[in-house]
Amino acid sequence: MSRLLRRTGVRAFIAAAGLAAAALPAAAQEGQLNIICSVQAEWCGMLQSVYSRTTGIKVNVVQKGSGEALAQLIAERANPKTDIWFGGTGDPHLQAAEQGLTLEYKSPSLPQLHGWAQQQAAQSKHRTVGIYSGPLGFGYNPELLAKKKLPVPRSWADLLKPEYKGEIQVANPASSGTAYTMVATLVQLMGEDKAFEYMKALHKNISQYTRSGTGPIKAVARGETSVSISFVHDVSISFVHDGPGEKMQGFPVETITPSEGTGAEIGSMSIIKGSRNLENAKRFYEWALTPAAQEMAAAAKQFQLPSNKAAKVDERVPDFKKIRFIDYDYAKYGASAERRRLIAKWEKDVNSLPR
Ligand code: F6P
Repeated sequence: MSRLLRRTGVRAFIAAAGLAAAALPAAAQEGQLNIICSVQAEWCGMLQSVYSRTTGIKVNVVQKGSGEALAQLIAERANPKTDIWFGGTGDPHLQAAEQGLTLEYKSPSLPQLHGWAQQQAAQSKHRTVGIYSGPLGFGYNPELLAKKKLPVPRSWADLLKPEYKGEIQVANPASSGTAYTMVATLVQLMGEDKAFEYMKALHKNISQYTRSGTGPIKAVARGETSVSISFVHDVSISFVHDGPGEKMQGFPVETITPSEGTGAEIGSMSIIKGSRNLENAKRFYEWALTPAAQEMAAAAKQFQLPSNKAAKVDERVPDFKKIRFIDYDYAKYGASAERRRLIAKWEKDVNSLPR
């Protein structure tokens, strides 16, 4: 951890998050907490390290994409091994709520959260809560585009142009919440029939469907593909650590949101029903909603919009006022039957086609 702190230069900031954890009402100062973490490794690692150091609780973290996390919770339903599911897109959290996999818990901090985060809690009957939000868009490598004499794609329509054949990556919606957000966004933007025609045409230009939602923007950063469909806050992930010197290396990645309009995720957090460390889980949950804990995201170079209204918004967080959003129906597209149906249809009608 100390090397990480040196690298990011955020000691004071993390100390504040630690103090916030220590200041929470006394609960078990020991024992353990098992977290499935669906944000990036650096943020997961920081949460684990700060929280365990300041509370004395042993924190075990497994990192999984949103769809994979839900699959694990379904698989361990009879004998839950997880206490908290932290982060990942909100749709699978709503599904988990609907399937009774997560615990009803009404945090006293709810009034401190933005309306969209409270709404996420209300529509799950308080079995999940919004912890951050971020818009879907495209990542691109300007150097690679220039080398290939390709224009910057500015719209969903642009992505279908034949010159982008083999130049675009997106994740698989079964494993990735990012990719499911794309499917649900296109269905809402175009209507279902047109959206599936669109995704079939897009398929011809896709070089790879990755497992994780952030895989494609990392590939853009490494110069392996020109364009990704990604959350635009994930541009930070284009920064990698440059060996033992731990120098931050900037790669040429830019982001843009499509001119026709786009969707946004409500990254969420849930307590698992049947948690064996329930007091610890509730305590962590309260801490994760505090401004200090939420500001840790930016320290870990993750630029989602925090859900606590009092959390400082890093200047690298995308400006939501400048983005054209669709009116995303979180309840409908977070419903189990709808998500399952759309993913199965995508597998059958899109992913099975030759490229
Ligand atoms: O941590 C980055 C992030 O984009 C989150 O904002 C999001 O909730 C999560 O990854 C989605 O990951 P995946 O698409 O792999 O489920």
